[in-house]
Amino acid sequence: MSLPFFGRSSQKPILKRCIQDDLTKRRLRYAPYYHAMEAQQGNRVRLNGRDMIMLASNDYLGLSFHPKVVEAGRSALLQWGTSTTGARTANGSRAYHLELEEKLAAFLGREACHVHSAGYLSCLSGVAAFAQKGDIILADKNIHSCLWDGIRLSTAAIERFSHNNPDDMRAVASAAPAATPKMLVIEGVYSMEGHICRLPELSAVAEEFNCFTVLDDAHGFGVLGRGGRGTVDHFGVNDKIDVICGSMSKSLASTGGFVAGSRDVIEYMRTHGKHTIFSAALSPAQAAIASASLDVLQTEPEHLERLWANTRRYKTMLKSLGLDTWESETPAVPIVLGEMERAYAFWKALLEKGVFTVMSVAPAVPPGKDLIRTAISALHTDEQIDRIGEAMAYALKKAR
Ligand SMILES: Cc1ncc(COP(=O)(O)O)c(C=O)c1O
Repeated sequence: MSLPFFGRSSQKPILKRCIQDDLTKRRLRYAPYYHAMEAQQGNRVRLNGRDMIMLASNDYLGLSFHPKVVEAGRSALLQWGTSTTGARTANGSRAYHLELEEKLAAFLGREACHVHSAGYLSCLSGVAAFAQKGDIILADKNIHSCLWDGIRLSTAAIERFSHNNPDDMRAVASAAPAATPKMLVIEGVYSMEGHICRLPELSAVAEEFNCFTVLDDAHGFGVLGRGGRGTVDHFGVNDKIDVICGSMSKSLASTGGFVAGSRDVIEYMRTHGKHTIFSAALSPAQAAIASASLDVLQTEPEHLERLWANTRRYKTMLKSLGLDTWESETPAVPIVLGEMERAYAFWKALLEKGVFTVMSVAPAVPPGKDLIRTAISALHTDEQIDRIGEAMAYALKKAR
């Protein structure tokens, strides 16, 4: 039996904080988040009994219902059970982890790789395991929350530079003592903005200052580069980047994450990275799904081709409507609406027309940049993109 008012009159300050929190109250009033879909088939979902087009998934290549990928997950469950119920350091290492790591390392042109049970964990560890007190971390001010958490946990000093700006990065690096060990933390594709990192220029500055470079390629992996090898491959700067971390919950249609680098670097993380040492290993089905997706990515190039064809068609449509897409260069496309009320009205109108998107407002985005985050996938049909266009035109009128 639930007790809805339990704790409401408590004197515990932390419990009171939870009950009285304004942000939570606002979230529950507007209810734009945590929508639980009742069904899904590819990029069609059912929400509150209505069929919708999913326009906010990171399943860029549309592999989450691919028969070979689904079958790989099912077979792994039967072969290995549901979970390793332990950390890699202890009882949780399995042959399939090593196979997946070797495959990912080869795909990325790296000596070694380590997989974790979440992309968040991989990217956090990809920073926290290597930086320490006394170091300086130079960070693009728009990096993902997992990288900020990694930076904080490392206890190194933080210096932010303006988004994707190599000149500002150089200015910040120049101001730091030359002998202090430095790390550069950037993303390959910025997930909220859809911007591609100015990697050749940033990595050149990093070389000048002997920065150890960590690149989170959660949204570039599977999307950019030859056959989806990611942002580093896209620019051909593999020798300049020390660590590529990322997520398997996007193009690889699984969950989990990876950190790839030289053998020395990966073995160092296995010795020093607390999140690598003390967290349970990636589960069998998730590893098999990621591995099968990686095979599909390499044997069926049509998914990547379709993704980019859809991206072009989608952006042409958005441009014809005069929508501000923050100069996105990738399938992750924000629609910037400015103020929260306008973003909310736009998001709601799209929902009314059967298009599911995600609203993102300050402080998650800079003030005045409240937006709707959309992502196109290889699965969208031309007819769906036309329907999305009609819904956008309607939402524009509603959100004047
Ligand atoms: C840039 C970036 N890094 C890391 C992550 C974390 O990945 P996961 O959701 O698989 O934990 C995300 C997820 O949104 C992301 O966008």
